[in-house]
Amino acid sequence: MSRLVVVSNRVALPSLTKRESTGGLAVAVLEALEQHGGIWCGWSGDLISGEPEAIDILEDGKITYATLDLPEDDYEQFYNGYSNGSLWPLLHYRLDLVEYSRQNYAGYMRVNQRFAEHLRPLLQDDDLVWVHDYHFIPLARELRQRRCTQRMGFFLHVPWPSREVLTALPDHRELAEALLEYDVVGFQTKGYVLAFLDFVVRELGGTVEPDGFLYALGKRTRVQHFPISIETENFTELAEEAEGSNHVRRLVQSMGDGKLILGVDRLDYSKGLINRFQAYEHLLREYPEHCRAATLMQIAPTSRGDVLQYQEIRQELETEAGHINGTYADFDWTPIRYLNKGFSRKILAGFYRRSQVGLVTPLRDGMNLVAKEYVAAQSAADPGVLILSRFAGAAEEMDGALLVNSYDLAGMADAMNQALTMPLEERVNRWVRMIDQLQSFDVHHWCRTCLRAIEMVAVSQPNGDSAA
Ligand code: UDP
Ligand code: G6P
Repeated sequence: MSRLVVVSNRVALPSLTKRESTGGLAVAVLEALEQHGGIWCGWSGDLISGEPEAIDILEDGKITYATLDLPEDDYEQFYNGYSNGSLWPLLHYRLDLVEYSRQNYAGYMRVNQRFAEHLRPLLQDDDLVWVHDYHFIPLARELRQRRCTQRMGFFLHVPWPSREVLTALPDHRELAEALLEYDVVGFQTKGYVLAFLDFVVRELGGTVEPDGFLYALGKRTRVQHFPISIETENFTELAEEAEGSNHVRRLVQSMGDGKLILGVDRLDYSKGLINRFQAYEHLLREYPEHCRAATLMQIAPTSRGDVLQYQEIRQELETEAGHINGTYADFDWTPIRYLNKGFSRKILAGFYRRSQVGLVTPLRDGMNLVAKEYVAAQSAADPGVLILSRFAGAAEEMDGALLVNSYDLAGMADAMNQALTMPLEERVNRWVRMIDQLQSFDVHHWCRTCLRAIEMVAVSQPNGDSAA
């Protein structure tokens, strides 16, 4: 196969602290690259006051890391401002949280140009360039303008919203047009594919032809869903190994006979954490038999702490946890263990395995790998129950989960009660359906199918038109 060049803002560099970046993208891309080898290009994680002069190159095993430092202004406008202040809330249907400025959009474009400029000399003709996520939507256009003819694919890790929501962004047209510069555009679910096609057909006059390609503005693009996944087998092994670890032993000891409901999420408003806490309070009120008998442990490491909306959600969550604990706690039982810090995936794997309920209730989520990890970590003899929001991409696949509407607090409380009291036979039946699916469709399958789709397209012409 051709050489693989992956581009994403977040790069899991080999140094320990940088590899601990939490988030589904870094986890999945690392697993794909470890298998395949290639170049991983993105932000170094460091800020500088002047302009970056050269890209840093670091070889580690099969992976070559090519990273750029970001000037402070770029970080503010490209990362905090446009990517996380405009695009993230928009793509997650939170129009109320969208902050928009032309200056931030200019910063976003400037960083895309900067990356194209630094990446171009590293590319070889036969490379496959695979660009990830909303930070780099315009990158293919910038590369094409610099006469890069390589095959290029894009994968969006987050949802693609409906046309009505997308058009709230002043630059919606430019962004959708920029996506057409890729040979392949991948989304997590069929629903996001349909939303994108709907936009291009109705706003840009595109057509989907019988050959399955999207034709619009003189470009031909393959648009397809590729549900991302995890390294299922390894994750199960990790969970088995973690069972004997000090962390897991201490957790089990601290629980006594009580049951554990576990949530693991970056501290992000898209994850529905306030609703989750309120639903748990509903459970304690409506099903008082679970008081003292069930504990909610929420792991929520701070994420994007420089962005105002993230500072606000953190405060709200602390208030909510304090209120529930203040109302229901006793001297020997705390209803919510709220941990505002991250854990390694090995420790998480052990925690998943020893919890009776995995609570994954985002208001919107591109996929949600935690849901898949929770299932992979369970023991076949006594599996826990996954409660999953219908608004997570994973809901299209995880048909053994208890699906909930994360706006319906009473419904989520009912699901928690059902999970906490579910007989073993039903738990096993539900889990088997999900683990079978995860074993067949793991991250390697995702990687293979995405790359095959990119590899199959013809090499583009310098003017950006695809050769038939
Ligand atoms: N994660 C982690 N430590 C933590 C919290 C999360 O390693 O303390 C990992 C988790 O195991 C998962 C990823 O971060 O692999 C989160 O991915 P997901 O798709 O669920 O959500 P995202 O953060 O990408 O929105
Ligand atoms: C999600 C996004 C990724 C992002 C990750 C962590 O998974 O899809 O692109 O890297 O969250 O967010 P951060 O802003 O810390 O990179």
